[in-house]
Formats: sequence, structure tokens, C-alpha cells
Amino acid sequence: MDNKQVVHATEQFAWYDSMRETSPVHYDPQSEVWELFRYKDVWNALMAPGIFSSQIHWTAAGNRQQDELGRLLGMTLLFQDGETHRTLRKITQPDFQPRFIDSRQTVIVDVVDELLDRLQGKESVDLVRDFTFPLPVKVISRWLGIDESDEPLFHMWMTELFGVPLNTLAASPNPDEQERAIARRNKVIAEMQDYFSPYFSYYRSHRDSRVISHMVNSDALDQEGLLAYTLLLFIAGHITTTRLLSSTLLLLSEREQARWRIPKDEELGRKFVEETLRYWSPVQLVTREVREPVTVGNAHIAPGDHVILWLGSANRDPEQFASPDSFDLERDFSRVLAFGIGSHYCLGAPLARREAVIGLMRFLRRYPDYRVRNVVFPDRKRLIFFGPQEIDAVIAS
Ligand code: HEM
Repeated sequence: MDNKQVVHATEQFAWYDSMRETSPVHYDPQSEVWELFRYKDVWNALMAPGIFSSQIHWTAAGNRQQDELGRLLGMTLLFQDGETHRTLRKITQPDFQPRFIDSRQTVIVDVVDELLDRLQGKESVDLVRDFTFPLPVKVISRWLGIDESDEPLFHMWMTELFGVPLNTLAASPNPDEQERAIARRNKVIAEMQDYFSPYFSYYRSHRDSRVISHMVNSDALDQEGLLAYTLLLFIAGHITTTRLLSSTLLLLSEREQARWRIPKDEELGRKFVEETLRYWSPVQLVTREVREPVTVGNAHIAPGDHVILWLGSANRDPEQFASPDSFDLERDFSRVLAFGIGSHYCLGAPLARREAVIGLMRFLRRYPDYRVRNVVFPDRKRLIFFGPQEIDAVIAS
């Protein structure tokens, strides 16, 4: 495998090392944003939502039209605090509890097997395009309670939405391109709205145990709130889970021992996924807006200031994780911040973990000899969603 791409992408981690050493609480005058790199600072900020708020007011980057996706996501629990956040979170919390996931595990198994069946007979595949990208969108649509036959449509939407960098941190260097991207994204959102509306009406009169039914029958959501919540569930669990499983398959392809042992040892498979979450955290950063004056290290941060919390750096802080640059399956994974911590801890973490472990185990049982020929990472410095975007692999000899 040509690993130049891996070397280039992982330079991000060397940059974290130097920032933790030289400027762990850093102010970037160009973007006017603070950046925290040390585990303890990131942890403290996540655990103080009253000071580090999730309600972020980004100043408009000069766009001529409204970015509907940004507007709708801004209404969701991800970007709310306090009572509003708690009320929204409670609506679907039961649908993502480990026990509920156990009871519906066959949904994940079915999706994984359908995708693996389609690989049958092919010699080489792109593991991302053909397996890890379609997997989460199929799972979440079945979880929500939407018609499975429309899955190609959801796939198309997600490709369109993620084809444009979801970049809240900086405007695109090319404003025309940015405008065209927003227009395309707005069109997808309008299509999604038309598509979901009849489902919302249907589940209002047909209560059942599916997620949409729980959302529709909650008093806390109006029609727009319903659409925003549905979008969040589609989006928050998509590229993140894709990256996790893609990274797991890539890292495993070069670790012969684990690769032969995992198909017979699910616990080892689980540990492999946990260490991937730390080592190549799929979400490298989260953002907050400061509400009260606060001192971090020697820096005084003022209300209204924006802060990037580098989860990827926290997860490689040597003060928390011994030899952070080695891939070690015997760590204490409970301190890893890949899913955040505190009140906004990832709602879908149990589902994502289960998708990754089931995907990994069932893939390995069918294609234990897979070999990665080439890998492509997103062509961008400092990835927010870390992991390969193409894995060209030979799966049958
Ligand atoms: C490997 C996969 C995933 C990773 C790494 C991940 C990561 C995260 C992180 C870091 C947060 C915290 C955000 C913050 O503190 O601002 C978060 C929140 C969230 N995630 Fe995930 N996520 C994953 C998969 C999923 C899945 C599968 C779903 C659901 C289908 C999901 C739904 C959510 C939701 C709804 C929130 C907001 C929770 C809140 O604000 O209370 N995520 N995720």
C-alpha cells in the first residue's frame, strides 16, 4: 500500500504535539478563535456547559443566501443548552440505549450482510463507497422507520450533503463555489422536507416504537423542529460512523495478528474499535461559545469568544495516555473523548459502536484475506472528520 496519504494525514497529530508543548491554549488571530489542545482543558470545557455553551452564533461569512442546513441544525439539541437541550434529548434517548440496540441488533446485521452480499464475486472494491458509506444511512433510515426501498435516495442526499465540506470555521476561498454549494445543499433540504412530511403525518395517527413516531408524538417539536431532528440523526451518525469503520479496516489491514484473531474473538474486535476511536478519532473537534469570563492556563477568554476543543489532541495527550502514538489494545478506554463527555455526550455512541463492531466482525469472517492497495484521505489540512475517504482493496484472490 502506498502510505504517503496516511503519512500526510497524520501530520495533524504531530501538529497537536507541538501545540500542546508550545501553545496549549492558543488564539488564532486570523479566524479569531481560541483552540484548546490539552486533555484536561478540553475535558473541563466539555464539563462546564454553563461557561462553554453549545449555542454558537457564527457571524455570516458574507453568503448571499441562507444556508438552510446550518439554520436547521442550529435548532437541534447539538446546538442547544440547558432545559431546551434536555427536553430535546429526552425525546429519542430511549431509542439509542444499549438495551434497545440489543433488541434491534438484527437491523444492523441485515444491513451489513446485504452490503457484503453485494461485494460477492468482485475482486476489488472501494471499501468506503461500497461498504462503510452506505452502511450508516441504511441503518438510521430503518431505525427511524422509513421505507427501505427509498434508501438509494437517502444515499444520494448524503453524498450531496457531504460532497460539500461542512465547514463552520471558515468560508470557502472561492465565494462563487460556496454559493453554488449552498444552493445545492438547500435543494436537498427542500427535497428532504417534502419527503419526510407525509411520514410525520402518518406516524401522528399510527404510533409505534420507531424513532419518528416518538418524535412526532412529542409536544416539544413543531414541523420544522421535526425536520431538523430527523436531519440531525441522519447527519450526525453518518460520516462519523463511516470514518470509524473505514479507519478500523485500514488500521487492521496492517496488523496481521489482530486481523487473524478478531474473527474468533469479538472482545478483541471491540477493543480494536475503541483504540481506533482514540488513535484516529473520527470527530477531531467540537466548538463552543464562551458565556462568562474564564481563565484557561494563562489565557483569559471573554464572553462571546469562540473556542475549538481538539478532541483528537486530547486523545493523544501523553499526560493521559501512555505512548499515545502507539496503537495499544490494552488501554483504559473509558477516558477517551471521541464521543465527547458531559451533557452533550454522543447520543448515538452505542449505535455507532455496534455498527462498527458488527461491520468489522462480519466483514472479516467473509473476507479475511482482504488487502488494501491504495488509500485516499480528504484533501484538506486539519481534518474535522478524520479517516480515509477511499480504500481500494482486493477482497478475493
Ligand atoms: C463513530 C461515530 C460517531 C462519533 C465519533 C460521534 C461523535 C460525537 C461527538 C464528539 C458528539 C458531541 C458533540 C459536542 O459535544 O458538541 C456527538 C453528539 C451527538 N451525536 Fe454522535 N458521533 C458518532 C455517531 C453518532 C450516531 C450513529 C448518531 C445517531 C444516529 C449520533 C448522534 C449524535 C447526536 C444526536 C449528538 C448530539 C448530542 C447532544 O448534543 O446532546 N452520533 N457525537
